[in-house]
Amino acid sequence: MIPVKRIDHISMGHHDYKEQQARLERLLGFEPLYEFPVREGAEFTGCTSQVRGTEIEFEIIQPAHPKSFLQRFIDEQGPGLHHIAVETHDIEETAAELERQGIRPFGGIEDDGDWRFTFIHPKESGGVLWQPFVPKNPPRDLDRSAGGGIVDLVRVDHVSLAAKDIEWQIDFQSRVLGCELENRWEDDELGYYGAIMTIPGSKLQFEVMQPSRPDSFVQRFIDERRPGLHHICCEVGDVDRAVEALRAEGIEPHGGVVENGWRKHTFIHPRDGGGVLFQLFEEPKE
Ligand SMILES: [Fe+2]
Ligand SMILES: [Fe+2]
Repeated sequence: MIPVKRIDHISMGHHDYKEQQARLERLLGFEPLYEFPVREGAEFTGCTSQVRGTEIEFEIIQPAHPKSFLQRFIDEQGPGLHHIAVETHDIEETAAELERQGIRPFGGIEDDGDWRFTFIHPKESGGVLWQPFVPKNPPRDLDRSAGGGIVDLVRVDHVSLAAKDIEWQIDFQSRVLGCELENRWEDDELGYYGAIMTIPGSKLQFEVMQPSRPDSFVQRFIDERRPGLHHICCEVGDVDRAVEALRAEGIEPHGGVVENGWRKHTFIHPRDGGGVLFQLFEEPKE
């Protein structure tokens, strides 16, 4: 496996990062951290924000010109989740290990002045663009407790992948990224097989969903788009209060409040989340 240290950020592509940043700050309290310096010849611009309680950042990137790879991404599937950046202990060792596993370090090892990095292409990872990197500068010292937004975000629990083959995916996640299987289940009602995996050094967990029948929402997602990141699951203080706050903003929580044996939860539909489906749940109350 590659020498994973921790997850650094989840990134999405959007045609207007400022608009999307303002939306996520309002809804989820993703507080702005910094904007990218404008670089000559850059493919994208953007910003990062902090995510309360999870020790990761959330990045929003916007195409810097019409021929940017990111513009193609948005043209093909709309704004949405784009990559996950994972800090490793050694980038040469990361690239060598990928090659040993028959995976091409996509783009070779690049250096942008702040990071040395490579990529694992979604076609080789079951649908996620992973960006392993090693920072060249010491980490920024940041307050991770601020934020929360109108939904009173407590933390981000997991990021979820709609996958074609859960067995292959579980094997890939453990073999390449050192994830450990924590739990798996079958959801008859919604029609999918699920698994939750830990990620080395990270509070954020990784969920895998595979459709168990043709009319599954996971199958629809794969048919309409491709295997890929499906939702981000967040703990909030109180689901009913979050729903009230969303409605006061003119946002109708997708699917209403669900109480089905798992935790009480609701959703912010991608049309209201700027291209990302957010699941909001609360821990059972005493
Ligand atoms: Fe990124
Ligand atoms: Fe989930």
